[in-house]
Amino acid sequence: MSGPDLRRAAAARALDLVEPGMKLGLGTGSTAAAFVTLLGARVRDGLDVVGVPTSEATRAQAEAEGIRLATLDEIPQLDLTIDGADEVDGQLRLIKGGGAALLREKIVAFASTRMVVIADAAKRVGTLGAFPLPIEVNPFGRTATRIAVEAAIARAGCTGEVRLRLAPDGAPLVTDGGHHILDAHLGAIHDPEALSAALWAVPGVVEHGLFLGLATAAILAEDRAGQAHVT
Ligand code: 5RP
Repeated sequence: MSGPDLRRAAAARALDLVEPGMKLGLGTGSTAAAFVTLLGARVRDGLDVVGVPTSEATRAQAEAEGIRLATLDEIPQLDLTIDGADEVDGQLRLIKGGGAALLREKIVAFASTRMVVIADAAKRVGTLGAFPLPIEVNPFGRTATRIAVEAAIARAGCTGEVRLRLAPDGAPLVTDGGHHILDAHLGAIHDPEALSAALWAVPGVVEHGLFLGLATAAILAEDRAGQAHVT
């Protein structure tokens, strides 16, 4: 069973949570895209929902699927957000932002009554941090911000390298919000709350990819004897 099959299985289970009239947050990434594809088919069959996309990529996909969209200013309170994750721990703490959409993803998740994570079960971890933690920063003073971020990481008891994320053309990657991403290769984050607080104290940090206290459930799909098993 392939990764796309598992992502589709998790997305299909999440679709069962969608009810007519819901205001939905639409996540970003390949698993969220599988959900948007399935949701589009339901919408074309007559399901009436409205979605708030968490990235320009998701906006383009959802529009192509015929899903009615709104901005978060038009509907500031959402019923349910369905989004992927890069890591999920046993307390539903997440690392997100592998697709550079963490800022809008976090704003949308925070505005949602429920946030359900959909993922391949390989994203389940005991300790967060093997996946590099994305930190979105303002381009102004990026070097000073990076030095301060490194100090904040050390204060929070973590060690590792902080690298500027580059686009395929070698230039700094620019997010939908016009910011840059620093990826912190930490290996393990033993106190995510302490690291979150330390990062937020750094001027120039716009947001970071630790999603703490936001996810209300996770739908994880794994291969069991050639069948997708969803928990
Ligand atoms: C984008 C994200 C994604 O949800 C995360 O990277 C998971 O992506 P995928 O479903 O492709 O594995 O946080 O910013």
